[in-house]
Amino acid sequence: MATAIIGGILKSGSADGEHITVYDVMADKLDLMAREKGIQKAADAAGVVRSSDITVLAVKPQNYAEVLESIKDEVSGNKVIVTIAAGISTDYIAGAVGKDCPMVRVMPNTPLLLGKGATALSRHNISDEDFSFVYDMFANGGEVSVLDESKMNSVIAVNGSSPAYVYLFAKAMIDYAVKEGIAAGEAMKLVCATLRGSADMLEKSGDTPEVLIKKVSSPGGTTLKALEKLDEKDFYNAVIEAMDACTKRAEELSK
Ligand SMILES: NC(=O)c1ccc[n+]([C@@H]2O[C@H](COP(=O)([O-])OP(=O)(O)OC[C@H]3O[C@@H](n4cnc5c(N)ncnc54)[C@H](OP(=O)(O)O)[C@@H]3O)[C@@H](O)[C@H]2O)c1
Repeated sequence: MATAIIGGILKSGSADGEHITVYDVMADKLDLMAREKGIQKAADAAGVVRSSDITVLAVKPQNYAEVLESIKDEVSGNKVIVTIAAGISTDYIAGAVGKDCPMVRVMPNTPLLLGKGATALSRHNISDEDFSFVYDMFANGGEVSVLDESKMNSVIAVNGSSPAYVYLFAKAMIDYAVKEGIAAGEAMKLVCATLRGSADMLEKSGDTPEVLIKKVSSPGGTTLKALEKLDEKDFYNAVIEAMDACTKRAEELSK
C-alpha cells in the first residue's frame, strides 16, 4: 500500500522524492523502496513524523499500537496523520498519541498500484487545504469518495477487500473455460474484458443492475439457466453475508 501511495504522489508531481520520507522495520524493504522510488529514508517511525507535515501510517492494524507509541512525542496539532488501516478510528489514534491532531481515515484498494484505485476517505479536525492535498494523493490514483467516518468500517467490504471476491469470481470463470478446453490466456483475456466492459455498462448505460441482467437474459436462453443455478446456490445472499463478515472483522479490529 505504501508503495502504491508513493507511486501515485510521484506520478502526479504533487511532491518530489526529496520531500517524501519512508520508514519500514524491514531494512531491506526500506532500502529497496528508497532506492527504487528515489525517496528519503528515516531511521525510525518518529523520524518520518519529525521531517513531515503529513504522515501516512501504512502498517497492519495489529502494528498500530507500537507505531503510535513510537511517534506520539513527535505528533503536534499541525501534523496530519493519515491512517489506511482497517478498523482503526481517529478516536483511537487521538487517544494513543494524546492529541486530537488533524487526521484523514482512508480505505484504498490494491488497484491503486495501477492508478485504478477506488478509495474512500473521511476527514477529521483538518483544514480544507491539508484535506485537499491528501484527497489528491489518492484522486491521482483512481476514483475517490468522501464519506462520514461512521461508514469507514462497512466500506472496506465495498472497495478495500472486494478485489479479492472479484478475483475469486474471475478464477472460477477462467478455471471453467480451461476445463472446457479454452486456452488459459484466451480465457483470461475474455474474462478481464468482460469484467471491464460490464463495469463500464453499469456506470455509463444509466440502467440498473436488474435491467442490465434482463438485457443479457433472452427468454428460454442460456443466461437464464446460469442465473437459475446461481439462485439455487444463493449466490446473492452469499455475497451479502461475506461483506457482512468483512465489516464485523473491521469492528473487531477496532476494539
Ligand atoms: N492490502 C490491501 O488490499 C489493503 C487495502 C486497504 C487498506 N489496507 C491497509 O493498509 C495497511 C497496510 O497493508 P499492506 O497490505 O500494505 O501491508 P504490508 O504489505 O504488510 O505492509 C506493511 C509494512 O509495514 C511494516 N511494519 C510493521 N510494523 C512496523 C513498524 N512498527 N514500523 C514501520 N513499519 C512496520 C511491515 O513489516 P512486517 O512485514 O515485518 O510486519 C510491512 O513491511 C493495513 O493496515 C491494511 O489494513 C490494505
